[in-house]
Amino acid sequence: MTMQIFRTKQIISHNNESKVLKRCLSQWDLAFLGVGAIIGTGIFVLTGIAAATLAGPAIILSFIIAGFACAFAALSYAELAAAVGGCGSAYGYSYAAFGELIAFIIGWDLLLEYGISVAAVANGWSGYFNNALASIGMPLPVSLTKAPILGGIINLPAAAIILILMGLLIMGVKHSAKANNTMVIVKLITISVFIGIAVFNVHPENWDPFMPFGWFQTLADGKTAGVFAGSSLVFFAYVGFDAVSTAAEEAKNPQRDLPFGIVSSLLFCTVIYIIVSGLLTGVVHYSALNVSSPVAHALTLLGYNWGAALISTGVIAGLTTVMLVLYYGLTRIIFAMSRDGLLSPFFSKVSNTTHTPVRVIVLCGLIIALIAGFVPLGELAELVNIGTLAAFVLVCLGVIVLRITKPNLERPFRSPFSPLFPVLGMLSCGSLMAFLPSITWLRFIVWLIIGLIVYFGYSINHSKINIHQ
Ligand code: ALA
Repeated sequence: MTMQIFRTKQIISHNNESKVLKRCLSQWDLAFLGVGAIIGTGIFVLTGIAAATLAGPAIILSFIIAGFACAFAALSYAELAAAVGGCGSAYGYSYAAFGELIAFIIGWDLLLEYGISVAAVANGWSGYFNNALASIGMPLPVSLTKAPILGGIINLPAAAIILILMGLLIMGVKHSAKANNTMVIVKLITISVFIGIAVFNVHPENWDPFMPFGWFQTLADGKTAGVFAGSSLVFFAYVGFDAVSTAAEEAKNPQRDLPFGIVSSLLFCTVIYIIVSGLLTGVVHYSALNVSSPVAHALTLLGYNWGAALISTGVIAGLTTVMLVLYYGLTRIIFAMSRDGLLSPFFSKVSNTTHTPVRVIVLCGLIIALIAGFVPLGELAELVNIGTLAAFVLVCLGVIVLRITKPNLERPFRSPFSPLFPVLGMLSCGSLMAFLPSITWLRFIVWLIIGLIVYFGYSINHSKINIHQ
């Protein structure tokens, strides 16, 4: 039955020329895509907040714990990306392992993950961009940098950057990958500068007390703090490695290159996060880090104003790549769901000139620009996390299910120590979900209910594969 699904999906994909994407991405493009999507708001903004309010210097442990959860999930992603393929990422793998309903739910969940994270990161980008304008004496008026609920009219830079990225994605994935590679290099230089300065300015007394909030505690205001709560928040820093798997149909050699792209980008970023978070809490006291640009702020406190300015520039480039790759991933998941009939076929037309799904790129761009321009998105990082963690749990479970139901499926990459590693992935990602606030759970459930209405109102009657659970 499962192989039938693969074949049907392939027939649907390959018989219709207007629904085929162009294979042009190398394994290094994919690894850069991963680093482009991963390093962003999480390390440049949330680390400071999480260290100051949730974990103290032990934020480094929070990063290690979240990194392990992601590593287990990444190995499962790599196995399924190589064996199942398809640009729908966890949506496609769930289709193969669990059937249509679960696949739809996870696809719907990914739309939340990718769409909201792009809008959230656009807000962070706008803050840094406006700081940069202010530093050269040309700040935008407040009314053009804040959402109405915060006293402004529109967050114009946030909306504008989305529209610029929309143009880039329409031009073609190879153009986008080239722009991404350049900005990733700028981002890595920025981080190297921080490490180069910070390593000579560590004051070990800043690491004492190391764990001021313990592993887990409930604060007076009812919120939870501690290393685990820190992990649940900084998990956002790892969101994005899964976006590599959405490039399956544009990869030159997906079976070999996707596992490389996923695993290498995650490993690299984990090492960077451990180094940066360790140094950050070593150079200044954790209590001074509750600001919107903690990495630059730390250098300012050390007296390196040029370093702080350089970091801000690098962050602008860094956040741009995060938005670019996640926006790209979002369009490819909608494309895959539409091609399978679960969303309107309107979205799966590929332009003959640019070889990109222009309609879905434009529609997503306009919606995300509206959200980014008019909604302040503070708490929504947690909403992104819960959606992503749910997808990771199902991908790990998918590995176990497919090993049982399809033992002979060709697996160019195998997650080691299966089923132990996938089970550990499910347990660790599930635990991080448990540490998220109840309001986040409520929002997540509301989103899933809307998804079920769409599925039973539309998708179930239009599915091309027509295999219902
Ligand atoms: N991992 C991405 C970031 O930290 C989403 O911005």
